[in-house]
Amino acid sequence: MGKDLVKILMQDLNKVISKNDLMNLKSKFIGKKGLISELTSELKNLSIDEKKNKGAEINSIKKEIEIAINKKFKDIEEAEINEKLNSEKIDITLPGKAPAFGSLHPITQVLENIIDIFEGYGFQTVEGPEVESNFYNFEALNIPENHPARDMQDTFYLDNDKLLRTHTSPMQVRIMENNRPPIKIISPGKVYRCDSDITHTPMFHQVEGLFVDENVSFANLKSILNNFCIDFFKKEIKTRFRPSYFPFTEPSAELDIEWENKNGEKKWMEVLGCGLVNPKVFGSVNYDPDQYSGFAFGMGIERLAMIKLGITDIRYFYQNDLKFLKQF
Ligand code: PHE
Repeated sequence: MGKDLVKILMQDLNKVISKNDLMNLKSKFIGKKGLISELTSELKNLSIDEKKNKGAEINSIKKEIEIAINKKFKDIEEAEINEKLNSEKIDITLPGKAPAFGSLHPITQVLENIIDIFEGYGFQTVEGPEVESNFYNFEALNIPENHPARDMQDTFYLDNDKLLRTHTSPMQVRIMENNRPPIKIISPGKVYRCDSDITHTPMFHQVEGLFVDENVSFANLKSILNNFCIDFFKKEIKTRFRPSYFPFTEPSAELDIEWENKNGEKKWMEVLGCGLVNPKVFGSVNYDPDQYSGFAFGMGIERLAMIKLGITDIRYFYQNDLKFLKQF
């Protein structure tokens, strides 16, 4: 009878695949109300000698059953671990994913290049606010209210007095206000005008330059800007100074640079305005115009970048097209 029990168990064990099934089987055979307990409870009707023999037999069967169940438990556990290891296998010979590298925006690259060149000439870099007052953007620069020059630059007003600066020239005033000559600074930054076409965007970058000392002449201005063109373009490039007008410089000029448009035609592009600081501007910062003179310039960074990088439409810079940006 007992030996049959082991046989039945072995058959049952073969069908078991989960730990849960195994637990059920365990309680069926050696649980409190299991088959072994049943056999044990029958012992009480036997004689003492028979009890001894039968009892020992039952015990050894129970041992056998326990061993078989424990072994099965280990087998199931091992199978589970193997399955897990197989399903989570990593093929370390597969090629990895390369991280995507970013790069500086072409305008940032050109701006940094320009700053480097001027710092090489001994200019110090200073930055100023993009939200300006009428005073710094216009009045102190000799552009009074109702002056036609205010229309030259379509201004974004924030309220009656606050506006988005239309150029970096307000930094001339801010610097001179708080410092005495000699002054030799550049001031890069964003400026805003209500304007948009192939050579204009509502936001663009300028680098302002200001040099004030005794005996600063227009010849100094021309020589610095000509040197700059050589250092910036690193090749022969045609330039021309064209007489112009700005309320804050006198005399004034614009610098044009020869470039090639989409159709391969040679054209002049205006890249900066410049001139000798108007004595009226010295007046608004209490500099004596008989003692000091100076030159100022304001260059358009996008324009310079277009010529240097061969870009024919300024708006490409701000469309965030990765195919465009990745070329630089
Ligand atoms: N601020 C002028 C502009 O934006 C450029 C300029 C700067 C001209 C300094 C003369 C001197 O057009």
